[in-house]
Amino acid sequence: MDNLLLLSVSFLLFSSFYAKNDCHEVSICGNNSFEIRYPFGLESPQNQHCTYNPSFNLKCNNQGKAILNLPGAGYFYVRDINYLKQQIQLYDPYDCLPKRLIKFQLPSSSVFKPVYYRDYIFLTCSTDTLNPYFSVIGCMSNSTISTLASSYMGIVSSEIMSFYSCSVTGTVSLPVSWSSKEEGVFSSELNNDLVLTWHETDSTEAKKIFRIVALSLVIPALMCSLVLTCYICYKQSQEAAALPSTSVGGAAVVPRPEMISGLDDSTIESYAKVVLGESRRIPGPNHGICPICLAEYHPKETVRCIPECEHCFHAECIDEWLKIKGTCPVCRSNPSPVHLNFS
Ligand SMILES: *[C@@H]1O[C@H](CO)[C@@H](O)[C@H](O)[C@H]1NC(C)=O
Ligand SMILES: *[C@@H]1O[C@H](CO)[C@@H](O)[C@H](O)[C@H]1NC(C)=O
Repeated sequence: MDNLLLLSVSFLLFSSFYAKNDCHEVSICGNNSFEIRYPFGLESPQNQHCTYNPSFNLKCNNQGKAILNLPGAGYFYVRDINYLKQQIQLYDPYDCLPKRLIKFQLPSSSVFKPVYYRDYIFLTCSTDTLNPYFSVIGCMSNSTISTLASSYMGIVSSEIMSFYSCSVTGTVSLPVSWSSKEEGVFSSELNNDLVLTWHETDSTEAKKIFRIVALSLVIPALMCSLVLTCYICYKQSQEAAALPSTSVGGAAVVPRPEMISGLDDSTIESYAKVVLGESRRIPGPNHGICPICLAEYHPKETVRCIPECEHCFHAECIDEWLKIKGTCPVCRSNPSPVHLNFS
C-alpha cells in the first residue's frame, strides 16, 4: 500500500520533470494564421528556457514572416504548419522556388523530408518563338531565353526541341508534394509551395510515449490508493469510535486481536464462488461494480459472496480483504463460521 503510493508519487515527479524540459508555449508570428508550438519553437528571449530540438527553431522577422533555416538548403518562409499531418509548407523569400528546388539538398540527418521526389528535365528555349500557352518558369526567363521544366522524359526526342530552339540544361530530381498528378507537358506546379514532413527524433518520441505510459499508470494508481486509504482510514476511525462503547462499568475492554484479524484460507474458500455469465447478473443486493476495487464486473470474472449478507465482490478483491479484516466491507457483518459450514 505504502509502496504503491511511493511508486506513484515518484512516477509522477519523474514524468513531470521530463515534461518540464519540453516547451509547450504557443506563439504566433506576424499575421500568420498558424500557431508555432511543439515541436516547433520561436526563438525569442522569453523562450530561452525551452530545450526543443534546434532543427525546429523558427525566427520571426520584422515583417511578421516566420523563417525556417534548413541546414544545407537555406532559409525559407513558412506558409503553414499542419501538426496533424506533420507537414510544413514553405516558400522562397525571393519568389523563385524552382531555382531553389534545383539546388535543394537536405542532409540525411535532417528531421525534415520531402513528401515525394520527381524527375524533371529543364529546357531553355528561345522566348520570341515559344508557344505562349506553355508554362514557363517566369523567374528564370527573360525576353530572350525562357526556362521550362517537364516531367515527361520523352520531351528530349520530341519535335518541340528543334521547333522552339530548345536545349536541355539538365535532369534534376525535385522535392514535390504531389505524386503522379496529371501535369501538362510543361509543369506549372513547381512554383507551388514546398511541402516537407517531419519526424520527431527518437528521444522526443520516447519521452512522449514514456509520459503517456506514466500518466496512464499514475492517475489510476493514485486514485486507487487514495480511495483505499480513505476507506481504511474511515474504517479505522469507525472502529476507534466504536471501542469506548464496549467499556463495561468504566473498565475499557481491550479488544482482543482476533476481533479485527482476518479469516483463514479454508474459511474464505468455503464461501460460494460464482463465475459471471454474459449477463453479469449477480445475486443479492449488489450493483454492477465491485465495492472494493470500484471496477465494473465483466463476463467470466469470478465473484465471491458473503453468505450472511449476500454481498458479492471480485473473488481476488474479497479474498485479500477477508485475510486482513474478517468482515464484509459493505455492511461489516461478521460471517459466522457456524453458518458457513452449512452454506
Ligand atoms: C496585419 O494585418 C493588418 C490588418 O489585416 C494589417 O493592417 C497589417 O499591416 C498586417 N501586418 C503585417 C505585418 O503584415
Ligand atoms: C536572359 O538570360 C540569359 C541567361 O540567364 C542571359 O544570358 C541574357 O543576357 C538575358 N537577357 C536579357 C535581355 O536580360
